[in-house]
Amino acid sequence: MRGRNARRSRRAALFTSLTTLALTAAACAANAPQDTLNPAGRVARQEDNLFKPVFWIAVAVFVLVEGGLIYLSVRFRRRSDSDAPKQIHGNKRLEILWTIIPAALLAGIAIPTVLTIWDVAAKPVGSNIVHVNVTGHQWWWEYEYTDFKTTDGTTLKTANELVIPTGRWVYLTMTSKDVIHSYWIPKLAGKQDVIPNRITHLKLWADSVGVYRGQCAEFCAISHANMRARAIAQSPEAFDRWVQGQLQPAPMPTDPQVTARFQGTCAACHTVRGIPDVGGAIGPDLTHLGSRTSFAGSSFELTAANLARWLDNPNAMKPITGANGNPKPSMPDYNMSQSEIDAIVAYLMSLKG
Ligand code: CUA
Repeated sequence: MRGRNARRSRRAALFTSLTTLALTAAACAANAPQDTLNPAGRVARQEDNLFKPVFWIAVAVFVLVEGGLIYLSVRFRRRSDSDAPKQIHGNKRLEILWTIIPAALLAGIAIPTVLTIWDVAAKPVGSNIVHVNVTGHQWWWEYEYTDFKTTDGTTLKTANELVIPTGRWVYLTMTSKDVIHSYWIPKLAGKQDVIPNRITHLKLWADSVGVYRGQCAEFCAISHANMRARAIAQSPEAFDRWVQGQLQPAPMPTDPQVTARFQGTCAACHTVRGIPDVGGAIGPDLTHLGSRTSFAGSSFELTAANLARWLDNPNAMKPITGANGNPKPSMPDYNMSQSEIDAIVAYLMSLKG
């Protein structure tokens, strides 16, 4: 009976170890686009510089404590029924020692931790800072570049893809239109909650040109997983060119059915600066949609085929119905004809800014 139990528990231990090993190995990826351990900017590097020593201290503590535990369990295990250990009570010197060591360790770790928290939370100083208002929506991100005014006097707005210059501070001022979201571009900075009726800030700095992927990091209902983001870092010159392009209005559609659809349907939620009477603010600003690489919360690559699929049946690509069955204010299916879809897609893809 005892032998069978021992065999069974040995088998359970082996199974647990192998499963843990397999899961750990499965978490490793050579080129993970959202890898916090591979920082690409000042804030992320600062956080990484704090994380690494704290991690290795924790590893040393783990190895010492668990190693001691295993060694003592084996060395002083009960070898026979008469082999009862001597009963003792208390050891003042040991108890003082194992209280002081962790306290000193925690106090030591607290100093760089608090300094890093202050530094990361500090407003960036200097000239040339790019200011962006970020608004979280179910399930996409709105960006308003408050430093830049469009030709018709409004501020530059875009969605889902945050275009930033390299080597300059980008200061985000964030809030939410509906529920709590969390803005997170792992290679550039840690997470920051985005909360209705409150303002939070995050600063970003990208060292080099590239596309940095992100993900909403606070559960925000059914399409939380489809609320992604991209920070696209460009050289300062390319960024200035991008700004100048985005400030222009979109060209008017030449196809009258596109104009009619925009003014009759799309206008309720979307803005396209350039088409008269198209200026809803519930959905993403589409003025220069064709200049982006993704759409619908950066969940899909911006291609004509994907966009056509989206216009045909958005709910099939990205769920918009809440857990209680109520549709969220998201992209509805307007039963557009194929020729209408093709015309609208061609127009949107042409909006290159
Ligand atoms: Cu927004 Cu999760």
